[in-house]
Amino acid sequence: MDTEKNIILVVDDDKANLTLAQNILAPRYRIAASNSGRAALKYLESHRPDLILLDINMPEMDGFEVMAQIRQREETKAIPVIFLTADSLAETEIKCFQMGAMDYVTKPFVPDILLSRVDKTIELDQYRHNLEKMVRQQAEKITEDARRISAIQDSVISGMANLIESRDGSTGRHVKNTQNYVQLIAGELRARGLFADVLTDDYIENLCKAAPLHDVGKIKVSDAILQKPGRLTPEEYDTMKLHTTYSGKIIQTILGDLEDRHYVKMAEDIAMYHHERWDGSGYPTGLAGEDIPLSARIMAVADVFDALYEERVYKPPVRPIERIMQIMSEGRGTQFDPTIIDVFVEMLPKLKAHLGIA
Ligand SMILES: [Fe+2]
Repeated sequence: MDTEKNIILVVDDDKANLTLAQNILAPRYRIAASNSGRAALKYLESHRPDLILLDINMPEMDGFEVMAQIRQREETKAIPVIFLTADSLAETEIKCFQMGAMDYVTKPFVPDILLSRVDKTIELDQYRHNLEKMVRQQAEKITEDARRISAIQDSVISGMANLIESRDGSTGRHVKNTQNYVQLIAGELRARGLFADVLTDDYIENLCKAAPLHDVGKIKVSDAILQKPGRLTPEEYDTMKLHTTYSGKIIQTILGDLEDRHYVKMAEDIAMYHHERWDGSGYPTGLAGEDIPLSARIMAVADVFDALYEERVYKPPVRPIERIMQIMSEGRGTQFDPTIIDVFVEMLPKLKAHLGIA
């Protein structure tokens, strides 16, 4: 505790008491003295002492009246006050604390008691100050961090997702659609108790937030390939495949600094591995089975379903929806995780309801 810098205002109409208090406290504190309540309030208009020692019995304005005014003023209401009292009646003591005093000291002063009470009060007030400051700073930091991260995520995600949609020849709903499907699928898997150790609330929330970025790497694939009406040549297809690794790198570059590591990892996994196949014949890495992150296995189902259901510049939509389920079922255990595709096929009534199909 740096007592050197602490200033104590002593308010007492009795000169002898003022001098005594001054002598006791002066070795450790800087003392300002007022011989009336009015003088003290005047002093407080332009000074902020760290503690006020306030005599109760004074002519004109007593200590309680001065205290009431100190507590009313915004600038002074937090300054700790110790009352000085000549009596030791219980009701005086009660009133002191009711008025908001930190402590009270009876006169005549016992030097060690006065000093000890003053030290403790100053120390306590400093702890309170530091604690309040810390809480305020932490709260501000948390709010600011959350706001910043959320704003970055939102703007990056929507900006990039919109950019992709404007270029890849989809109907402009792919990003939103696939986000909805991964949410429906993950929710259904969890409701059935599947992948229970992975599919937590946080996981599903991150999955939905990260899903829109799955094709962000298409930014680096040319319009000629993205919007080609016919079949891609093997070379063009190889270029198209690169969108997965591009996606992973872009997410790492743009979101890599975010503190939310689970979210960034999720976005990378989905982007990198959503074209992997259960039998290991997918791209870009040829991961197989459960080595493919669950998030990407869910995304693969959502992605293919939407690609078949919606119209693209190079193909009409597949109808009826039962035909899509049949096509996707044929990929059970080869293209898709058998557990996920089984559940997905059983979700047909829910999908129909979601899509507004009778
Ligand atoms: Fe993709």
